[in-house]
Amino acid sequence: MEKKQVKVGLMGLGTVGTGVVRIVDAHQEDLFNQTGLSIEIHKILVQDKEKARSIVIDQEKITTNADDLIEDPDIDVIVEVIGGIHPTKDYLLKALAKGKNVVTANKDLMALHGAELLHKAQEKKCDVFYEASVAGGIPILRALVEGFSSDRITKMMGIVNGTTNYIMTKMSKEGAEYREVLAEAQALGYAESDPTADVEGFDAARKMAILSTLGFRVPMNLEDVQVRGISKVNKEDIAYGKKLGYEVKLLGIARRDNDEIEVSVQPTMVHKSHPLASVNGVFNAVYVHGEAVGETMFYGPGAGEMPTATAVVSDLISVVKNMKLGVNGRGTVAPYKEKKLKTDDKKFSKYFIRLIVADKRGVLAQITNLLAEKDVSLDQVIQQPYQDSGQSEIVMVTHTSSKYNVASVLKTLEGMDVISEIKSYYQVEGTDKEAGAVHNE
Ligand SMILES: NC(=O)c1ccc[n+]([C@@H]2O[C@H](COP(=O)([O-])OP(=O)(O)OC[C@H]3O[C@@H](n4cnc5c(N)ncnc54)[C@H](OP(=O)(O)O)[C@@H]3O)[C@@H](O)[C@H]2O)c1
Repeated sequence: MEKKQVKVGLMGLGTVGTGVVRIVDAHQEDLFNQTGLSIEIHKILVQDKEKARSIVIDQEKITTNADDLIEDPDIDVIVEVIGGIHPTKDYLLKALAKGKNVVTANKDLMALHGAELLHKAQEKKCDVFYEASVAGGIPILRALVEGFSSDRITKMMGIVNGTTNYIMTKMSKEGAEYREVLAEAQALGYAESDPTADVEGFDAARKMAILSTLGFRVPMNLEDVQVRGISKVNKEDIAYGKKLGYEVKLLGIARRDNDEIEVSVQPTMVHKSHPLASVNGVFNAVYVHGEAVGETMFYGPGAGEMPTATAVVSDLISVVKNMKLGVNGRGTVAPYKEKKLKTDDKKFSKYFIRLIVADKRGVLAQITNLLAEKDVSLDQVIQQPYQDSGQSEIVMVTHTSSKYNVASVLKTLEGMDVISEIKSYYQVEGTDKEAGAVHNE
């Protein structure tokens, strides 16, 4: 007999899980019209059965035993919105082994163990969809897999962590220091009490591993992503950046040249003419450059109950459509290209460097001679007295140079008598001619 209803096992009833229940309840008619099947949340796994919930739920559906979902032969799809690696990985592997399709919002799990889950899914002819794991409400994964399937993506840059973008925006708009803004973000609930995963760039790195795997069709691991967080960004860097035409953003950067790839997360000077420079507050955005299409950008809420739940339910709809057609697990294209990571001599960018130097005649000349020796040339320079210290501050932006050469410049500068301190250095983006993304300077 043909199926009339799809039964869902929902793991987690927190922020996102609650949104999923709301959308499935409110959109029954649309869901039926789109899929030809009605969708029922059949059982819900939580940690604490007695917890007060903001929605009315039939208590009979709630359980604290994952096997009530995994072993239930009536359940066709598991929607996992618990988060973390344990016990979710085991739950999902078991569910796949039982032939259940999976929808998850879990970037930690997908960045670290996505390949294993996807393999299991292929073996069992099941779907694993995870749109909500990157940039919450923005349908970027679907865009990469389907929208860009005929193109060749050369570059992706993402503001994929709302907490750090909130902090960088506040620092820029108010001239405030990092510590003050972080404390305020924590008080407002925009940052966790332990903010390490966000501010040190680890959360963004997970999302960039997922984006680059799908965008470049290469199996990228988390260890392949070079990470630097925002905890050392100070208000002077931001002020100098502005003077020279840049905003500092925590940017995920994934780039492919001649089949060689680099992926990083780092605080970056983004030229103000680039659309990413005006992505403010907790919003997310992903810029994608395709060889054929040129520049595109996807912008929207990166988190929150309803935006994230929308992405989850859209994945659920895809699973149900596939069920109707009997093609679950057939649409997944495993990364099929060999992974070739660039060495530092093949990574090119402009750089912002800020130095405190002795206020002596000829210092700037010494620095420019060193740069010339290392094949690094200057695009912009500011030199001015440094506070009342009798020293000078030099802020410079290089022309496009290799990371290897710039690292070598920084190392030599460190050992020079006339240099008191290398205050900071940042990669500069948004004026990048090789990627075809030329913005007005
Ligand atoms: N929140 C967002 O805006 C957002 C955005 C994008 C992606 N995500 C991802 O979505 C997932 C869920 O996030 P969330 O914010 O909804 O989390 P949350 O509010 O903390 O909810 C987690 C839910 O999982 C349940 N749970 C936790 N540990 C469990 C366990 N061991 N066994 C059974 N149930 C357990 C909790 O049960 P109790 O209710 O009984 O405590 C709760 O219902 C995470 O992977 C997160 O990264 C969230």
